[in-house]
Amino acid sequence: MAKRMITTDLIDEDRTIENTLRPQMLGDYIGQDKVKRNLKVYIEAAKQRNETLDHVLLFGPPGLGKTTLAGIIANEMGVNIKITSGPAIEKPGEMAAILNNLQEGDVFFVDEIHRLNRQVEELLYPAMEDYAIDIVIGKGVTAKSIRLDLPKFTLVGATTRAGMLTPPLRDRFGVVSHMEFYTVEDLKKIILRSADVFQVEIDEEGAIEMARRSRGTPRLANRLLRRVRDFAQVKYDGRITKEVAQFALDLLEVDRLGLDHIDRNILTTMIEKFGGGPVGIEAIATTIGEDVGTVEEVYEPYLVQNGLILRTPRGRVASDLAYRHIGLKKE
Ligand code: ADE
Repeated sequence: MAKRMITTDLIDEDRTIENTLRPQMLGDYIGQDKVKRNLKVYIEAAKQRNETLDHVLLFGPPGLGKTTLAGIIANEMGVNIKITSGPAIEKPGEMAAILNNLQEGDVFFVDEIHRLNRQVEELLYPAMEDYAIDIVIGKGVTAKSIRLDLPKFTLVGATTRAGMLTPPLRDRFGVVSHMEFYTVEDLKKIILRSADVFQVEIDEEGAIEMARRSRGTPRLANRLLRRVRDFAQVKYDGRITKEVAQFALDLLEVDRLGLDHIDRNILTTMIEKFGGGPVGIEAIATTIGEDVGTVEEVYEPYLVQNGLILRTPRGRVASDLAYRHIGLKKE
């Protein structure tokens, strides 16, 4: 079980590289100004009072830096972080063991917290509220419930879907922060910073071109940077310019709005198969052979944010911009 709790177990390329790029303190974290400004106050206040920070819920689309922020909260508070995720904890006993092993002040980060099962989630209620859990020992008439005191800790929960959180869990977070897609300007700064870490040369125009096509998402920006760097090295002189970025991103099928082939498939399907809508998300997902949750959490938010899909009470509608972008005429 301990294995699931440390980030270094996530050994795929993206994750390990992501770790080297993660800013460590609030001052190095680019963008999300509102979230940062508020957290700074709460952290400072808790430190002044010598208290643990209140529980924090971060929500927003994937890849916006929720895990990074949890790490920063721990660093700023000067405490350790334990990391797990909703689906990784199957039994209340596993959750009890993790909670029992926390040290005073620790940050306990639960990614995808909306996916905790009910029994595990219910164990969190007294843990969050009273820093205690009730454990049942034995079975039947001889069963006894004992209360186990826990060290004070800060639960940082992350979710892509605030609507999926049960009210009792949501209400136990003192701080709720909405993360938003990054602006092109902020993504440009992140790309320049990452390029500096990778020691790859990039000019301002190249960084802007990449930022425009990164779907408002630093994780994607950093992934694209590694691929564009490869093209710059092999096909050009190693330096990322606007021309190199355009050449590489066109080959990677990331278009001018940062849409990939699945995004375009969603829009094309809505237009060609459903007359532009209104159409339900399930019908779209089934037609393109993707999981509904993935379409709803990963793809749709950016398409909605950019006015390509309109959400109406009767279903999703492809906007005029979507028709123009895909190059199809309204019937
Ligand atoms: N790398 C990934 N996300 C970042 C952010 N928000 N600020 C700085 N560097 C980052």
